[in-house]
Amino acid sequence: MPDYKRHLVTAALPYANGPVHIGHLAGVYVPADIYTRYLRQNGKDVLFICGSDEHGVPITLKAKTEGITPQDVVDRYHAINKAAFADFGISFDIYHRTSAPIHHQTASAFFRKLYDDGEFLEKTTEQFFDEANQQFLADRYITGTCPHCGNEKAYGDQCEKCGTSLSPMELINPKSMLSGNAPILKETKHWFLPLDKHEPWLKKWILEDHTEWRSNVYGQCKSWLDQGLQARAVSRDLDWGVPVPVEGAEGKVLYVWFDAPIGYISATRELTPDWEKYWKSEDSRMVHFIGKDNIVFHCIIFPAMLKAHGEYILPDNVPANEFLNLEGEKISTSRNWAVWLHEYLEEFPGKQDVLRYVLTANAPEAKDNDFTWKDFQTRNNNELVAVLGNFVNRTLVLTQKYFDGKCPDLNELADYDKTTLGEITAIKTRVEQSLESFRIREALNEAMSLARLGNKYLAETEPWKLFPTDPARVATILHVSLQITANLTLLLDSFLPFTMKQLRSFLNIPEMPWSTIGSVNMIPSGHQLEKPELLFEKIEDFQVDFQVKKLLETKKLNEAKAAGIAPSKSAVSYDDFSAMDIRIATVLEAEKVPKTQKLMKLKVDTGMDIRTVVSGIAEHFEAKDLIGKQVTLLANLEPRMIKGIESKGMILLAEDNSGKLIFVTPEEAMPNGSVVK
Ligand code: 2FM
Ligand code: ZN
Repeated sequence: MPDYKRHLVTAALPYANGPVHIGHLAGVYVPADIYTRYLRQNGKDVLFICGSDEHGVPITLKAKTEGITPQDVVDRYHAINKAAFADFGISFDIYHRTSAPIHHQTASAFFRKLYDDGEFLEKTTEQFFDEANQQFLADRYITGTCPHCGNEKAYGDQCEKCGTSLSPMELINPKSMLSGNAPILKETKHWFLPLDKHEPWLKKWILEDHTEWRSNVYGQCKSWLDQGLQARAVSRDLDWGVPVPVEGAEGKVLYVWFDAPIGYISATRELTPDWEKYWKSEDSRMVHFIGKDNIVFHCIIFPAMLKAHGEYILPDNVPANEFLNLEGEKISTSRNWAVWLHEYLEEFPGKQDVLRYVLTANAPEAKDNDFTWKDFQTRNNNELVAVLGNFVNRTLVLTQKYFDGKCPDLNELADYDKTTLGEITAIKTRVEQSLESFRIREALNEAMSLARLGNKYLAETEPWKLFPTDPARVATILHVSLQITANLTLLLDSFLPFTMKQLRSFLNIPEMPWSTIGSVNMIPSGHQLEKPELLFEKIEDFQVDFQVKKLLETKKLNEAKAAGIAPSKSAVSYDDFSAMDIRIATVLEAEKVPKTQKLMKLKVDTGMDIRTVVSGIAEHFEAKDLIGKQVTLLANLEPRMIKGIESKGMILLAEDNSGKLIFVTPEEAMPNGSVVK
């Protein structure tokens, strides 16, 4: 790596509109964390920046559905996600948020500089407008049919089925998410970043100067650049976001993709007064870790913004991962098809590193990959337990047994010992090369090759058989094995930080710098070790079967939802249920409530009394057909006045998907007042 003075590693700011799941970890946060930890092991000056992306339409829509404010939504998920990342050892130097005042100030000043420098085009165009709600329909406020793949639920900014990025005008049969109505077109003024103007330098910078970028990233950029760039609007008609800092821009905010990447800058400002050193000197190196859906924003649009501003460095690399699927299907928050981090930790407490390991060993670096619970179990049992755990455990237990837990002397070295020890430096070099080229899964495999080597070394030298006859040879073998173990703590520290910390405590050694790898005597003869425990434990069939069963239930629920069956409500206590007084009653009289479409006034005999109940069934039944009918009545519902009539109770009906209603009637006649329980 060229000699940069400092490093800025950013990880995409996740939207604070839902909890994070394994797809997030595998795509962005685990690789970014591994890379950053590796830089730190090398003594580099590095800042690791992340935070919540708290603007954008999905957040306002969620707030609306839940009847809370957008700030409530982001407060909730910012806290949940910040904690989840910390639980998994993602070692951000700051986890900031874009609703913070310093971010608003930074994003606003950034926009204003570009505005003052004449870097924007100001255009009045026609945009979709919801007349019922008197609101412009930005991005996800509008849905319609995707012109590319026919998906009827495409959004105004993107079709999630075919991944195409769209503009609202391209949608066929556009509909407002607010009212469901077809929108009208109305003129509005916005600011546009003329990407076409930036195209020539972007082409050279990416296509000629950054041929080392991952092929998925390079390829996506090339295809955007080959198609020709167009001006992109950087403002929206919304009331949630960073207000456009220009006179006459009331009711307009910065487009979320304009303000979010500036979030990296504002987070750094919040973190350190030295922030400008990281952002504005050519001897700083910036790397953005992102998912593939973020490529255009980080490789083209944000660099164009930074260049237009003029004071900032550009990213040196943008390692973007592809997507992780779950058991063969796309991870989806709305369909609950995910492994949520907080749930994983409840079900596999203390096993953060197992998930970090599996997600790295199977990282979707070059293509989409699949997470399966079977693979999770196999990698844990066959790799972590059987290779790494087994080697370390045998080494530590045998040292306790034969040498009272003290590192034995290194006696005469056999050729096999020498070649084994010699491999450590070769492995170190290969791990470095892989990590520095962002081939993180390859790096893990290389690092694990030392554990495999150690296992083989013990299997072939069989110290447990030699001890009675040749304790000096056993001393050497275990000394070598302990050096390998100590090197593993360094090689695997960035991948498995919790386990390596534990292993250092068993070895009774401090954290050491990366450069120590391969040096003899990382553990000197006579060094006292602590009593070891197992590093990993087997994951049993029943544990993964339970997870698979949970997913099958989710699938069934999704199918039921798709078939229009209402989702089940959350559980109620037995006490809540038994508080309801449900009775069989008979209809004595029925008449439609005048001047209403739906309401029917019924007189019913409940066995306890004769009472009036108003029910919304008039469109479904004729009054005359109801007389004498036995029905089920929620008898202790609080009385309500409906159209001036006091209604005491509620008749229970079953409703199907098409809205058809039928009474819940006893199979055979029952005395009025019979209790339903
Ligand atoms: O795709 C996303 O989840 C975005 N919230 C990522 C933003 S990254 C950065 F630009 F802030
Ligand atoms: Zn599509």
